[in-house]
Amino acid sequence: MAIGLVDSGVGGLTVLREIRRLCPTADISYLGDSARFPYGTKTMEQVESFLLEGLDFLAEIGVEAAVVACNTASAAGLEAARRRYSFPILGVIEAGAKPAVEATRCGRIGVVATTATVRSGAYTKAIRGHLESAVILHRSGQELVGEVEAGRMEPSRTGKMVLNLLSPLVAAGVDVLVLGSTHLAVVRDVFRRFVGTEITVIDPAKETATEVAALGLGNGSGKVAIFVTGDPDAFRRAAGAVYCGEPPDVKKIFLPGGSGPAEENYT
Ligand code: DGL
Repeated sequence: MAIGLVDSGVGGLTVLREIRRLCPTADISYLGDSARFPYGTKTMEQVESFLLEGLDFLAEIGVEAAVVACNTASAAGLEAARRRYSFPILGVIEAGAKPAVEATRCGRIGVVATTATVRSGAYTKAIRGHLESAVILHRSGQELVGEVEAGRMEPSRTGKMVLNLLSPLVAAGVDVLVLGSTHLAVVRDVFRRFVGTEITVIDPAKETATEVAALGLGNGSGKVAIFVTGDPDAFRRAAGAVYCGEPPDVKKIFLPGGSGPAEENYT
């Protein structure tokens, strides 16, 4: 039984990594829609249609469950996806919101995410679903998301960008920080280093993997297949930061809606 994962690029590999840790025998097919990266500068309608195309591909190759390993796509299209397919579909936003609420003592929670996720208010809704009085402070980390996808993670530059994202949140007194983009989770150790011990950093990948394990799909042979819509070599290079060792073969595919970057965006 195979599980499918979909993201706009390499970020969802952070979820794949946690799933493999918890379910080493699960067969996984991963789709990175890298030709249309970034999702975080597109409209919710565009991202929803990209997501459904990606899931159609995964359904066609026979996955029996799927994880939307992308916060932006979870915010935009999780509900539509659940209406369209009969197999279980997990998202990452609820998986970030729940442990964030469990971890907070003061009720002030910081979220770093893409521009589209911030604008969607999806984290506010999910967190307040557990803690109505929560104060949620957002920052868009879109620029850093782009650096991660490009595989440009030179430590002092990444450190500066992380610090710049964090400073207003630390000043505002958050005690929990949610990495609300799977691309930002690629550099979670840098976030952890800069927040110190007073702030708990939540990577939704862990909770997502626990939810996947509960589906009981771990009875395959631990095969991983990776598909991308963009340049496979560029993907392989950037994936090195998430994968320990060589990532498996990366195959290029074409989605019916076209693989070129969408014209319309709003940043
Ligand atoms: N990985 C995606 C997320 O979790 C965002 C990257 C993008 O902007 O495409 O939101």
